[in-house]
This record gives sequence, C-alpha cells and structure tokens, in this order.
Amino acid sequence: MADNVIDDSTSAPTAPDTQPDRAVRLALDGGDPVRRTPWPTYDRGAVCVHPEDEEAALRAIRSHLFFRYDHRPPQETECARFEAELCDYFGSAHALATSSGTTALALAIMASGIEPGDLIACPGFTFAATPSAILLAGCTPFLVEADENLHLDVDDLRRRWTPRIRAIVVVHMRGFAGDMDALLRFADEQGVPVFEDAVPALGAELNGRKLGTFGLAGAFSTQSDKSLNSGEGGFLVTDDSTLFARATVLSGAYEGRLRRHFSDGRPPLATDLELPLYSFRMDEIRAALLRSELERLPLRLAAFRENYDYVAGQLADLDGIRIRRPVAPGAYLGEAFIFQVAEGRAQWFARALCQEGIEARNLGSDTDHNIRAFWNWRFLFRGKETAAVKASLPNTTRYLQRAVDIPLSSTLSRADCDDLVTAVRKVAAALTATEADANSSCAGRP
Ligand SMILES: Cc1ncc(COP(=O)(O)O)c(C=O)c1O
Repeated sequence: MADNVIDDSTSAPTAPDTQPDRAVRLALDGGDPVRRTPWPTYDRGAVCVHPEDEEAALRAIRSHLFFRYDHRPPQETECARFEAELCDYFGSAHALATSSGTTALALAIMASGIEPGDLIACPGFTFAATPSAILLAGCTPFLVEADENLHLDVDDLRRRWTPRIRAIVVVHMRGFAGDMDALLRFADEQGVPVFEDAVPALGAELNGRKLGTFGLAGAFSTQSDKSLNSGEGGFLVTDDSTLFARATVLSGAYEGRLRRHFSDGRPPLATDLELPLYSFRMDEIRAALLRSELERLPLRLAAFRENYDYVAGQLADLDGIRIRRPVAPGAYLGEAFIFQVAEGRAQWFARALCQEGIEARNLGSDTDHNIRAFWNWRFLFRGKETAAVKASLPNTTRYLQRAVDIPLSSTLSRADCDDLVTAVRKVAAALTATEADANSSCAGRP
C-alpha cells in the first residue's frame, strides 16, 4: 500500500541506519533483536519531570496546606492558580481541576442537566474510562463505529441515531482529533451537546484550535502518561458558567466555597444545597506540580510532534502498513504511532515488534484483553457472547483487529525512533517475504 502519507508537514524520509545482519532474521525466529534496552514508557519512568517541577511540589508539601479550600484568598492557592492558567492556555472562560480525567468527564455530563438513564453516544474505540464516566454520570453508553482512521464515524452515528440519545462524547483517541466539523454540525441538527474526551490529546490542536474547546466541555487527565503528569488528576474546561458552577459543587465545593471560583463572588446558582458532593477535587500538591509542568508543556508537545513526524515520515513509503491518518494536517499530539496491516496479521506483527525490543500491541487482539476495544467492556454486555458484541460494531472490530499501536514517549531520542523504524521495516519485510513464499508454496508463516 502506498497511500499512507499522513501529513504535509512531515520531513522528507531518509533511510535509517539499518545493520544488514539485524535485518535478516526476526528476533521472533531466534535472530538478533533491533534493540535490547527496554522501550521507554511512562510506567518505566520515561516522563518529563524537571527539577523545577519537583521543587514546586516540595514547596506545596512544605506549606502543609494540602486542601484547595483554606484560609487563603483563592488566588493564592495552587488549584485556583492552575485553573486560571488553564483558562489562559485554552482560551476558556472556566476550568475546574479534578481528581481524574474520568471524574472530569462525568462531572461535565452530570452538570449539564442530562438526566440519569439518558443515552449518550460514544465510539467503540476508546479507553474503558469513557463509557465508565458515562455510567458514573448515571447515563447509558450508546456505542457507535470508529472509521478506518479510528475516529468516531459520524455517518454511522447518523444511521444509528435515536432521539433517546441526549449527548455525544467524542474521544480524541491516542491524541488524534475527531472530525469536529462534521460532528458539531450533526449534533447541532439533533440539538444535543458534544462533550470532548480530550484526555489523550492535551495540547493538540485542530485547525489552530485546542482540542477540548470545541464542545460544551472538554475533559482532560493528568495521569502519568499524559502531556501533564501528576500521577493521577484531571480537569475540565468550558465556557458555560452554569455547567461550570454545577460541576464545581458536584466536585465538592460545599458551604459557599463555589463563590471562590467566580472573580465577582457571584456564581449563577441560587444555592449549592441542591446538588450532591462527590469529592472529585484536586489537591494543592498536584496542582503545584502541574502548574510548573504547564510552563514547559510547549517543549513536551514539540518533542511529541518531532518524534511522531520523524517516524511517520520514515515509514510513509513502506508497503504493507497503512499509517493512521489525521482529519486535518497536524491534528494530532504524537503520543502513539498506530498503523494497520493486512487482516489476520496484526497480532503476529505486534508480537514480532515486541521481540525486536519495541513495545507494540494489537489493539484488537484475541489474546490480550486490550481495554480500548469495546468488546472487552464486559460491564456493558453482561451475558452476551463476545462474537455477538463484536458483530454490533463490525467496522470497529475489523479496524482494531488490523491495528498495531506503539507508544511514543516524548522522551524518545532519535536513536529510539530509528530503532522503531528499523524494527517496523524488518518485520514488514519478513511478512512480505513470507507471503510471497506462501503464494508460491501455499505455506504461510503467521
Ligand atoms: C480516552 C480516555 N478517557 C479517559 C481516561 C481516564 O483518565 P483518568 O485515568 O485520569 O481517569 C483515559 C485514561 O487514559 C483515556 O485514555
């Protein structure tokens, strides 16, 4: 396949430095792996934390003021400052720091006035946290197909539409923007709000506008493999003052603390007593850490982008893989490299890459219960056979079964990227050779 170029902005490919002996025999078959050192990932400590960030967290710890609501004026607390800085960064009227991305999304839904029991559409390709947040808000997830590029398929949403769907959650999954033009147009026709699960895309833009600012509210996470990392945490952004006020109370702003979130001290809620309190707040230590990291976010985003564009540029011409395409030039973060291979080959391809020293997973694997594939959300499908669940979204099933997913830490060096390129080329070449043999002898490898 030669139709896999993804972006005009990618640099011109030059061949990586491939050692001939490493290229011949796959590590899967006993050959030398492309690399022996572990692939850098957040859970092995490959994260961007600077000494200034550590100092900021230590200052908050030494203050002994860990709770966001205390005797200080709000503008002197880390949480309120973090929220003000997020408003500047996103150009949003309001931001609320939360305990996680899941709670940020659930709070946005709960605060929007959508009734418990209502259906909310979301794609079949997302982390299980998306349907979980919908459940947490008391609503019912209504799954729709992802398209070939793993974006929410707006045509399928139109085909499946029922007036019982009261909102849509779009997910900018693996950092790639959904098709917001088409989706917002459709949502407008139906008169329902769009929430953005922008958790995997913190800092990414679509046509010059930050993801998370297109819908009624955008939810983000600051868990460790996100663009801002406080271990756990999150936030939501919105321009809707009533939604924001309600979400703030729900997150745990009791006994008038809501007033601290409005510069004039006048929230658009007559009382805060009509909403339950869920304690989904952020604390001062994490907010201090995140404020410091936010200063260097542009550097981290540039690193994601540089690594992604380099890898995608190097592999753009490779036969046998089809690189995921963005909905517009540059509409991705670059935190993961996803490509599709021929049907029935992705599980083997990912395994072969792992043996070469590159962490890779087949998103729709039969053996590895990847929680990003909808059929593994058994909490939604109690008593149903997996085959029947898969058949409910046949396209998403097919695309995930063909997809190979490789995490791209912003800490990757050029040598790491070259290893990835070399390994993908090596495995693809082996597959092509095997298929050629199989065609002539009817004996297949994978
Ligand atoms: C798409 C998506 N939504 C929501 C979440 C949940 O974020 P958190 O772990 O902060 O609750 C994740 C977590 O990775 C995610 O990938």
